[in-house]
Amino acid sequence: MPRADPIEIDWMEPGAVRPLAPQEFEQIRQLAYRTFGLDLKPGKEELVSARLRRLVGSGRFRSFQEYYRHVLADSTGEALARMIDALATNHTAFLREPEHFEFLRQQVLPTLSARDPLEVWCAACSTGEEVWTLACLLNDALPSRTSRIAASDISNKALRFAAQAVYTAERCHGLPAAWLSRYFVLETGPPKSYRVCPKLRTQAGFRRINLVERFSWQRRFPVIFCRNVMIYFDRQTQERVVERLAECLEPGGYLFVGHAESLTRVSHSLEYVRPAVYRKSEKREGKWTKSS
Ligand SMILES: C[S@@+](CC[C@H](N)C(=O)[O-])C[C@H]1O[C@@H](n2cnc3c(N)ncnc32)[C@H](O)[C@@H]1O
Repeated sequence: MPRADPIEIDWMEPGAVRPLAPQEFEQIRQLAYRTFGLDLKPGKEELVSARLRRLVGSGRFRSFQEYYRHVLADSTGEALARMIDALATNHTAFLREPEHFEFLRQQVLPTLSARDPLEVWCAACSTGEEVWTLACLLNDALPSRTSRIAASDISNKALRFAAQAVYTAERCHGLPAAWLSRYFVLETGPPKSYRVCPKLRTQAGFRRINLVERFSWQRRFPVIFCRNVMIYFDRQTQERVVERLAECLEPGGYLFVGHAESLTRVSHSLEYVRPAVYRKSEKREGKWTKSS
């Protein structure tokens, strides 16, 4: 008599998701690394499970394995984009790491005051607070010049939020009162919120750029902000990204990185200026060297 297939008894509650297994964590870890450079170290299983659980549950997948297969099979790329959104950290704030903006205002902008327009790149800009901080600063420091900010992030969702430029009063908490009244317009609430004024909104352009893939600009920038994203990359990826950012800097141009992501262990051709600020040599394109 032919043997019947063993009956699979499923003890799961409807809608329940099986816990993340080590092999599933490894698959998601590799996918995140390949697609956007996220370096998920062992020990991040709970974080991955917590951040993906909603997607897994709302898609009615019964396991992370099923969800993982769906992400791979989705040729539109939307499932992958949602996975990246869920795994990436979007935390940001107006005037975050304020020393950078002071240095920019006092040391860098005076050397660029003849530029018209003056265009800077804000890479990995998240929901836009950094972009609009730069816009306020540039307009304040160089009122008679045209300022432009090229802003980018891997996340379309974050970019849409950034371009919409509406922030609750709570998120605007750190903004100087003078900037709030000069560059923001009170929205009809609730919740109480402010929108960046039309003049500044026309000065920023948003574009999706994945820093671990090839990207190009038609021009080079005197200033690039790329802060608090490389902290999620391993050293190899950081080197590749810094190399590409340096290619996008004009000679003498400045790269600002997050204070938590010093480039001391990374090979690069930039000169150290001060903590988390680097500069491309005035004279040459540069050969890659191990920095001290
Ligand atoms: C912690 S936020 C930093 C925001 C802002 N730069 C700051 O310092 O406040 C990191 C941002 O990097 C973006 N990101 C992550 N991986 C990326 C990649 N491979 N390419 C471009 N952006 C990426 C995320 O979507 C997120 O918006």
